Amino acid sequence: MENDNVPVSLPRIGDKAPAFKAVTTQGEIDFPKQYEGKWVILFSHPADFTPVCTSEFMTFATLESKFDELDCKLVGLSVDGLYSHIAWLRTIKEKIDYKGMKDVEVKFPLIEDITMEVAKKYGMIQPGEATTKAVRAVFFIDPKGVIRTIIYYPLSIGRNFDELIRVVQALKAADEFGVACPADWRPGDDFIVPTAGSCGVAKDRMDGKQEGVTCKDWFFCLKKVDRDTVLKAITQK
Ligand code: BEZ
Repeated sequence: MENDNVPVSLPRIGDKAPAFKAVTTQGEIDFPKQYEGKWVILFSHPADFTPVCTSEFMTFATLESKFDELDCKLVGLSVDGLYSHIAWLRTIKEKIDYKGMKDVEVKFPLIEDITMEVAKKYGMIQPGEATTKAVRAVFFIDPKGVIRTIIYYPLSIGRNFDELIRVVQALKAADEFGVACPADWRPGDDFIVPTAGSCGVAKDRMDGKQEGVTCKDWFFCLKKVDRDTVLKAITQK
C-alpha cells in the first residue's frame, strides 16, 4: 500500500546512500552500513510475478558470481511483501527456464518495502511512470557508502547486464588508476588521463614525457594499461 506520509527524495551521484533498515528474504538489512568496505548495487523492480522482472532476477542470480569477483554485492527491492517475494523466488527456481538458465536460486537479499519508505527515499517511485510500483532503478554504491552511478529504466524494458558489469569495472578501474573511462570502455582499452592542472604537466604530456601516455591534443590524452593488469587490480584479491 502506498504511504503518502513517506517523504520523497531523489539521491544524486556523489551523495551518501540514504540509510535504512529493512526486512529481506535473507533476514534484516542495515543499509548501507553492513556493506561498508564493499561495492554494492541496490536495484528495484516493479513487481514480483511479472515476466520482465523474472528475466532480470534470473540474470542477476546467474551473474552474481561475476559481481562477487568484483567484490560487488547485490540487493534487490520491490514494494511487494516478504511472502510474495519468497513465493515468487521459489516459483522461479522450480518452474521457470529462460535462455539456458534454469533451477535458478536467488541468494542475494530482496527487500520488502510495502510502505514504499525505501523506494521513496531512493526516488524509485516515479509517478509519471507508475505511482504504485518502483521503476527499474540501479544505484552503484562504493565502499564508503557514496552513490557513484545511477541508472533508471522504465517498467517495460529489462536492464542490460553487460552494462551493469561494465559500470562496476569502470568505476573501480577509474579509482584504482586515477583515470577516466572513454565511451564504451572495456578492460584493456585505453583510459583517458584527466586534463592536466598546469601548463607544465600538459606540456610534458604533449612532449611524450609521461610513460604510457599519448596526447592527441592538450585536452585529449590516452593511457594504455593492459587488460590483465586492469582485471587484476579490480577483481577480488
Ligand atoms: C514486467 O516485469 O514484466 C513488468 C512489470 C511491471 C509493468 C510492466 C512489466
